[in-house]
Amino acid sequence: MATDVSATPQTGPESPDDSMISVSDLTHYYGPMPAVENVNFTVRRGEILGFLGPNGAGKTTTMRILTGFMPPTRGSVTVDGYDVVEKSLEVRKRVGYLPESVPLHTEMTVTAYLKYMGTLRRMNGRRMRSRIDDVIGLCRLEDYHKTIIGKLSKGFRQRVGIAQAILHEPDVLILDEPTIGIDPIQVVETRSLIQELGRAQTVVLSSHILPEVSMICERVLIIHEGHIVAADTPGNLAQHLQGVEQLEVEIGGPPAQVLPVLRAISGATAVTHHPRPGVNAYRVKFRKDHDLRDEISRTVISHNWSLLSMQLSSMSLEEIFLRVTTAEDAADAPD
Ligand SMILES: Nc1ncnc2c1ncn2[C@@H]1O[C@H](COP(=O)(O)OP(=O)(O)OP(=O)(O)O)[C@@H](O)[C@H]1O
Ligand SMILES: [Mg+2]
Repeated sequence: MATDVSATPQTGPESPDDSMISVSDLTHYYGPMPAVENVNFTVRRGEILGFLGPNGAGKTTTMRILTGFMPPTRGSVTVDGYDVVEKSLEVRKRVGYLPESVPLHTEMTVTAYLKYMGTLRRMNGRRMRSRIDDVIGLCRLEDYHKTIIGKLSKGFRQRVGIAQAILHEPDVLILDEPTIGIDPIQVVETRSLIQELGRAQTVVLSSHILPEVSMICERVLIIHEGHIVAADTPGNLAQHLQGVEQLEVEIGGPPAQVLPVLRAISGATAVTHHPRPGVNAYRVKFRKDHDLRDEISRTVISHNWSLLSMQLSSMSLEEIFLRVTTAEDAADAPD
């Protein structure tokens, strides 16, 4: 007799705390360079976690490993206490996965495809039928359940992808760029659907859109070149990074001398030179609690240069994202 892998799972053997996903020292190589390296994080039960990173950062790689889709080169991942490699069946019962490109069967109708997915997951007939009705409603597919998937727009295909991911009522949802390539109205609807699902489930979603993760997620991990470079609530992340202030200063003096003097000011975290016609401007970054305006004006005057202007400019969220995903040396390069 086929087991109903969708049955309500028991808590795994190694899950004493409230963490639903636990990732330790995760490293994966496709070739000589690691796609992700020594990644560590946990996801609490019921949390909506955002995985933010630019193209090639390692989001999809991490998610494939989290879902048991492929084993990591090194390190371990547990879902509800079950190891994704050793107990992959237990993990699959608990996880719903929306891959980056959904392998939909374009010749099937929406309902036939969902039945096919339910059968693959060994759901029993009665439960499957009632769940198909539920997910069609939840994903607002009522008008399309008899439509051939090949005829659906990208946004509706994405909804079918989400519908199959939640069909077996998984505790964890892993959504890889759920709003990519769909129109703005459908983006809004998909985001609210994710928030709705997030009330009952643990959700990990990836995105390269900062406002999107800030809007949906309780916590954000920023991944860059296979490493976690920041992890916090969207609010704290913005506040912490916005704790960095930026000054635009125009100084009359030889840049070759001005630049090293500005860089030597203690508290200046980054100084860049931005020459404009007839004037040399500098951008000086410093921590909010360490205002450098007084010191800069004294320094300029003591060198007999002229201070033509000085202006505070705060960093936008997009700049924050660039800041955390840009290497120190690149951050120092003039833009
Ligand atoms: N199947 C593969 N074979 C070889 N290299 C791969 C493979 N998949 C991903 N990579 C490489 O691993 C790194 C991480 O890729 P990954 O797809 O995880 O990034 P991502 O954050 O999902 O990017 P995107 O935003 O473009 O989807 C990249 O350098 C990528 O080129
Ligand atoms: Mg990806």
